[in-house]
Amino acid sequence: MTRRGSTWLATIVAVMGSVSVDAKVTAPAGATVFRLDGAGVTYALGVDDKGYLEPLYWGPPLGTKDPLGTIDPARSGEPVLLKAPGELSGFDPAGSVTPQEYPGQGEGLVSEPGLKAVFADGNRDLVLKYRSHRVEGETLLVELADIHRPLTVVLRYAIDPETGVLARSATVRNGGDSPVRIDQIAAAVFTLSARDDYTLHYLTGRHAAEWQKKRIAVTPALTVLESRRGSTGHGNNPWFAIGRDGATDEDHGPVWYGALAWSGSFRISVGQDNLGRVRIAGGFNPYDFSWSLKPGETLDTPTFYAGYTDGGMGAASRAFHRFQMAHVIPHGDRAKLRPVLYNSWEATAFDVTERGQEALAEKAARIGVERFVVDDGWFGARDSDRAGLGDWTVNRTKFPDGLKPLIDKVKSLGMEFGLWVEPEMVNVDSDLYRAHPDWVLNFPGRPRTEGRNQLVLNLARSDVRDHVLNVLDRLVRDNDIAFLKWDYNRNWTEAGWPEMPLADQQRVHVAYVRNLYHILAELRRRHPSLEIEACSGGGGRIDLGILAYSDQVWTSDNTDPADRLMIQDGFTQAYAPAVMMAWVTDSPNWANTRVTSLDYRFLSAMQGGLGIGANLNHWQDADFATAAKWVAAYKTIRATVQRGRLYRIAPPSRDDGTSATMYVAADGRQGVLFQMLHSSMWRDNPSALHPQGLDPARLYRVRMLGDGALPEGMPRQASGAFWMNIGLCAPLKGDFVGAAFVFNAVD
Ligand code: DGJ
Repeated sequence: MTRRGSTWLATIVAVMGSVSVDAKVTAPAGATVFRLDGAGVTYALGVDDKGYLEPLYWGPPLGTKDPLGTIDPARSGEPVLLKAPGELSGFDPAGSVTPQEYPGQGEGLVSEPGLKAVFADGNRDLVLKYRSHRVEGETLLVELADIHRPLTVVLRYAIDPETGVLARSATVRNGGDSPVRIDQIAAAVFTLSARDDYTLHYLTGRHAAEWQKKRIAVTPALTVLESRRGSTGHGNNPWFAIGRDGATDEDHGPVWYGALAWSGSFRISVGQDNLGRVRIAGGFNPYDFSWSLKPGETLDTPTFYAGYTDGGMGAASRAFHRFQMAHVIPHGDRAKLRPVLYNSWEATAFDVTERGQEALAEKAARIGVERFVVDDGWFGARDSDRAGLGDWTVNRTKFPDGLKPLIDKVKSLGMEFGLWVEPEMVNVDSDLYRAHPDWVLNFPGRPRTEGRNQLVLNLARSDVRDHVLNVLDRLVRDNDIAFLKWDYNRNWTEAGWPEMPLADQQRVHVAYVRNLYHILAELRRRHPSLEIEACSGGGGRIDLGILAYSDQVWTSDNTDPADRLMIQDGFTQAYAPAVMMAWVTDSPNWANTRVTSLDYRFLSAMQGGLGIGANLNHWQDADFATAAKWVAAYKTIRATVQRGRLYRIAPPSRDDGTSATMYVAADGRQGVLFQMLHSSMWRDNPSALHPQGLDPARLYRVRMLGDGALPEGMPRQASGAFWMNIGLCAPLKGDFVGAAFVFNAVD
């Protein structure tokens, strides 16, 4: 498997026994065991004597000759028969106790299926057994087939040699001559061996309160992480991590983790099966999905990425960040650093004018901003959220000569120009809706429920897809636009696609997202230097699917710098700081009226991609000087923050005074430690923070980020070992204060 030019060099081994199967024979004569090994991870699966594909192992690396699947230790070293378990009782038939790698819904299965299908004659029994396999490049493909019907599934596996991250997906094919209704399809099903001490970590929240960390014991009570919103949503993110109670923390212990690369309604279920094994299944959300698979047709799932580490939640997220930076985010390791941006939304809301934006641009340029972004309100009749969406033509009252004069001005000030769009939506009060009322998701004769006064265009329709692509293409071609902030501000209701035959209407959940990806991919292809920010009322559509087309993401509309530390802590469990944008905005903050200093706001926002969203018209000279100082300081560390390794030294919490994060450059030459004090207690000084990730043998000179002096008595220079073992801290006092130490290698 190659992706963006990098090769997956990991080992994929198919250990062959003598195999003789066809779609109807369920007892192969030998054993076949497959292994994927990479970066300290082994993943193995094998075919048992009844022809089921069984998960065998996922964890720390095993010896290359280890007898995986052996039932007789005397025969270790040879590929031997895997014996399928038999019935345990009348209530535990063989079909339910066999741990299948990708089970069909049939034969008494009582855990989550990989695939659930209804055949044209009403048969709902689906039993998938091994049929064949092949290795293409570095991808293993294993074909399963139903025991009687010509319905096949190809499972795809690859492993990244740098991080051990697996990529799994599935394709179902109807080889028969009547349609087969697919009611549920997983990208992958993962299995962990039976234990009672697993803990599931997941992320949840709501608008302006995304990325909250939760944990729950894994038990036979199924836990479902899902979205039924049409998009990823703020509620559950399609990411999970499973550790072991008492053994796993930030720095230690086993973690199995994964994320589904899908931006629509999804479902990930986690629970123990009837024998205590943990089953993790993830794919399209079946709640309103069905796909009538025509004869000869195939249906592909998205990719489910998953990894393992024994280094705790910190090592899990660092490996996953590295993987995303190399293989998911556009341009991979060659991606540009995030420019410092200014965004007008919190300053002006819909009151956008050429003169007003020029005034802000002049001020933004003074503090070192590199990209100036005009947010909502520049187009159509957009004076509020009640009108204009869908009409992507410049509002001539606000911009009498179009966008060109403003863009020229922004560029003359040395900045790139960026623009907000929300292309998937339409206001009822818009020319587009008046012309095409049939273009929205709807059920004829039913209400069209508005959210934020808008309806969702049905991107699944090819005419709508082409229209949106053409409008955006023209917008970018006719104006010198370097960056689009792509917003999406509501959930689906009445998700109808009435133009389709009845059996195909529920394809909308998949077809919509695929067309969204098509538009993004095609726009990027036509405009290779265009950058895109994924936004959905803040962080409502962030996942590995949209990240393949997005250079950065808008993490949350909550820009309070203290709340934001919690949000960033949650976000980085799953996704890389490389894409995580954070703005410095006004104080008191709109979200919670908290008052904070400009210094604190900058120190919080500098822990991701730095932006400024304050109303610069209200700033005094001293504010400009403070901001210019921090922007210049940020530019000296942003490569480390954005492309380095993140160590969450002390996570922010409601109860704890001090939190700290540390970013270390991939080459180990620079480290940055952010120390943030929520509020002082008593007369205590904060205790020492211990940096991580530095090279113990290397000499580092330390300085304060910005122009502050080092705490009294602190040495200027010492080894990485010294800093990490002795620790350090700034003597912070008060509420909402912070400091950052920069470690630069001396040699
Ligand atoms: C929601 C986004 O998250 C905000 O940043 C802003 O762009 C508004 N939409 C504009 O309507």
